[in-house]
Amino acid sequence: MKGGVGKTATVVGLAEVLAAELVETLVIDLDPQANASICFAGSSTLRSLIKKGHTIDGFLQDRIFDKKQTDFEDCIRTNVSNVSHMGTQLPVSLLASSSRLRLIERELIYKLTKSGLSLDRIVDLIYNLLKEQLSQTRTSYRYILIDCPPGISVLTEVSLRLADMVIVPTIPDFLSTYGLQSFCSNLWTGEIANETKLKKPKKPHVLITRRRPTREQNLTTTKLYLERRRKPPKFNIFETEVPEMAAIAEALGKVEKVDVDGNIDKPWPTLSQKWKGSAPFLESLAEEVKEILHGA
Ligand SMILES: Nc1ncnc2c1ncn2[C@@H]1O[C@H](COP(=O)(O)OP(=O)(O)OP(=O)(O)O)[C@@H](O)[C@H]1O
Ligand SMILES: [Mg+2]
Repeated sequence: MKGGVGKTATVVGLAEVLAAELVETLVIDLDPQANASICFAGSSTLRSLIKKGHTIDGFLQDRIFDKKQTDFEDCIRTNVSNVSHMGTQLPVSLLASSSRLRLIERELIYKLTKSGLSLDRIVDLIYNLLKEQLSQTRTSYRYILIDCPPGISVLTEVSLRLADMVIVPTIPDFLSTYGLQSFCSNLWTGEIANETKLKKPKKPHVLITRRRPTREQNLTTTKLYLERRRKPPKFNIFETEVPEMAAIAEALGKVEKVDVDGNIDKPWPTLSQKWKGSAPFLESLAEEVKEILHGA
């Protein structure tokens, strides 16, 4: 629910570290702020994807309003990472988003309720559409990471329900953790959670991010870890904590520079050149993710 806690930083970093084993990795951006899209595609490629309608909002427009049989595959841009690993570009692909997503989501609710569909039916419709697309797409990718906007949208709710794993980046301070219990209650344990027939989301994994050694953060972190003793805990917590590091903010700003002829600047950085001191934290997080997913 909270903004600015490091959701996009986690998706971008994790995608590159997971793809460093040269396994196909897809990032789906569900945020109209399009932060993950700009980090990977850079401004000129993103502009061209938006122009062609090859974005998540373009996909929804085609499928729901224009009745065109567009699939995720038609909108996905391959090879978007600017990182090289052992001389090879990391195999990261992107299903981008754009600011139009906000309008499309509003239109979706407005037009479909006007045509007599209940909100539950709209969520059902989007759930089935995304489920069908993800089951087609997942055959081509080892990992699919979905970057969500702050707050709960229909798309976010549906993707939380469809995900094999839900990561909740959280700054360990009072305001960032304030909504955590209610977020868990709404989707997992409370009355609202039981109102729907749709699949319940997997129990979330809280990732402590932007960690600073302050008294308040130390105290909140200790409180978060106390959840492990609760029977049953409302959420899991990763062992890895991601510190507040300039290297992370800088890495997010490192998009490719395209010259006027469309050529991309080379040589590309390696993972450790791009993520610097934060690379070991991302690698440790990736190991935990793999263990949870595959028990590896
Ligand atoms: N561990 C970190 N250390 C330092 N800066 C960070 C860290 N994680 C994220 N940032 C910076 O904090 C800001 C917010 O991060 P990010 O965009 O990842 O958050 P978000 O949760 O995706 O935000 P939103 O809710 O708006 O989508 C960005 O400027 C990013 O560069
Ligand atoms: Mg974000």
